Amino acid sequence: MCGIVAVIGSREASPLLLEGLKRLEYRGYDSSGIATVEFPTDGSRGSLTCKRANGKLVNLVQLVNKEGAPGHLGIGHTRWATHGKPEERNAHPHRDSSGGIAVVQNGIIENHSVLRKELEVEGIQFLSDTDTEVIPHLIARELNLLTKDDFKTEKGLMLLEAVQRVSVQLEGAYAVAVIWEDAPETLVVARRQAPLLIGLGEGEFLCASDTPALAGFTRTILPMEDGEVALLTPLGIELYDIQGKRTQRSPTLLNGQEDVVNKRNFRHFMLKEIYEQSETARLWIDRHLPLGLPEDSPVAYPFKESFYEGIERIQILACGTSRHAGMVGAYLLEKFAGIPTTVFYASEFRYTKPPLTPNTLTIGVTQSGETADTLAALGMEAERRAQYGETAFISRQLGITNRSESSIARQVPNILDIGAGMEVGVAATKTFLGQLLAFYGLALAFAARRKSCSAQEIIDLTNELRSLPNQLIEQIEKHDQISETMAQHFVDTQNVIFLGRGINYPIALEGALKLKEISYIHAEGYPAGEMKHGPIALLERDVPVIAIATPGVVFEKVLSNAQEAKARDARLIGVAPDGVATETFDDLMPIPEVSEFISPLYSVIPMQLLSYHIAANRGLDIDQPRNLAKSVTVE
Ligand code: AGP
Repeated sequence: MCGIVAVIGSREASPLLLEGLKRLEYRGYDSSGIATVEFPTDGSRGSLTCKRANGKLVNLVQLVNKEGAPGHLGIGHTRWATHGKPEERNAHPHRDSSGGIAVVQNGIIENHSVLRKELEVEGIQFLSDTDTEVIPHLIARELNLLTKDDFKTEKGLMLLEAVQRVSVQLEGAYAVAVIWEDAPETLVVARRQAPLLIGLGEGEFLCASDTPALAGFTRTILPMEDGEVALLTPLGIELYDIQGKRTQRSPTLLNGQEDVVNKRNFRHFMLKEIYEQSETARLWIDRHLPLGLPEDSPVAYPFKESFYEGIERIQILACGTSRHAGMVGAYLLEKFAGIPTTVFYASEFRYTKPPLTPNTLTIGVTQSGETADTLAALGMEAERRAQYGETAFISRQLGITNRSESSIARQVPNILDIGAGMEVGVAATKTFLGQLLAFYGLALAFAARRKSCSAQEIIDLTNELRSLPNQLIEQIEKHDQISETMAQHFVDTQNVIFLGRGINYPIALEGALKLKEISYIHAEGYPAGEMKHGPIALLERDVPVIAIATPGVVFEKVLSNAQEAKARDARLIGVAPDGVATETFDDLMPIPEVSEFISPLYSVIPMQLLSYHIAANRGLDIDQPRNLAKSVTVE
């Protein structure tokens, strides 16, 4: 999704802006741009240069190299189109009519049409279809008023005042960075419900929408709070809260995971991240399942005992892959901890509120910690419960994320950091495994305290989790090869059906989502028993069916459903233990014979690798698939 980088300091801004934007590429974008202001040497006004390019960042780099963008002050942006097509004229920065004010924005200005009409009546001509373009025009209008009011102050403070005045006119969620050639030593930034962080570098101050853009330049950061506006000059930072009152906060240090790591010898980040899952599991087990914990508290999670007490229901809010992890989580929480658990699409929950239930824990799952739908759903739930005060309806919330410095960590009181390390590929892989592990831990932690299953069941599940890291590496290497060969059968494939049941139904959904995301093949996941109620009509020779069949309560059922597919000539690929009913399948992607409860941690591996190799065969942009973004910060 859109990314912002901005800098004010002692060195040339454009190389730093381009490097920062490069580090944000993984978020997904379709155009980019920078604007810089050259410091005048004689104390006069500066001059603003703006360069924008459609498509990949390399186009912008070439343009800047050719035409230059001088100055020590600058803002940069990668745009993921929402209002207006991906075209150069819609790329940020956007400027006012004089061309002297430039703005980059992440988010959506919901009242942009009203504001645009108002400005058009005043004679402003718009040059783009974006919601953002209203902002530089509104700032110009406020600066004019300030000049007329004889606002006797220096230009930097005028810009700050103008941005503060415009902020209250904007509706929606946004983060903005603004420069003005008349104030060549001033950068003004503001945020409301969209992330923005200030970085304190050596001889420079930076600002970015995401930590990777800052990590190469500084590790000292100051995350901005909701509603804050900041004035950055070569001399320092001034922070103003939502009421416009000057405020102060100490910076914090990045924890070391935010560097954009390199691909090492892997062709794509996605493949590297699939391989890293064994390490994700090892780190999680070392941290949360150390030997020697008491029987009634077998998981080392950072919560007080009161966190676990009195919970009667759980609701999980998430999107996409994170929702699939939540579905496996719900299965585990009900099975082991006996807590009724419901999973919601976060985007639906906001507008289709279920009736309030007492003593309910709400869990938001988001690897990025920035997904607008999930954050808004959590916020809405906290708000509607707040009116009940200290009663059974009080809001109890937990966030499961891979980004402990993200917005969710500032929004909810309890956080589980899955600690999977930076994930660059847009298609989530190791963060999905990390989210699953977080739920295994939660189910065990609740179950042990509630004595909702036997001590032996807890020991068995814990032991299976402990053997995961070693088994995973074997599995990944094996399926990398199998999938590479199998992907040859998918050269002309247009449709694929994924089947699973019980705890593996969400893995069928995840398999279909991964394939859609990176190979652009139409794929659907179904509970296997549902196939005969409609989807079976799609089956023919050219529609492969991938069935997850792991021993357990639904094993025989899945096998019969798979037979139904085979009888319709569909090529049948089994994700199943070797030697157990393997004659059912045309091809087998063998997984270890583990308990059904642990099986999703293995069955997901062939799903990820098969999607990867099918997309790689087609020569697609696997790490940055079309139209997708790593963190979806708009509704
Ligand atoms: C996963 O491969 C997808 N890119 C997408 O479905 C993602 O899971 C979803 O947008 C939610 O993201 P989050 O985990 O950052 O909230």
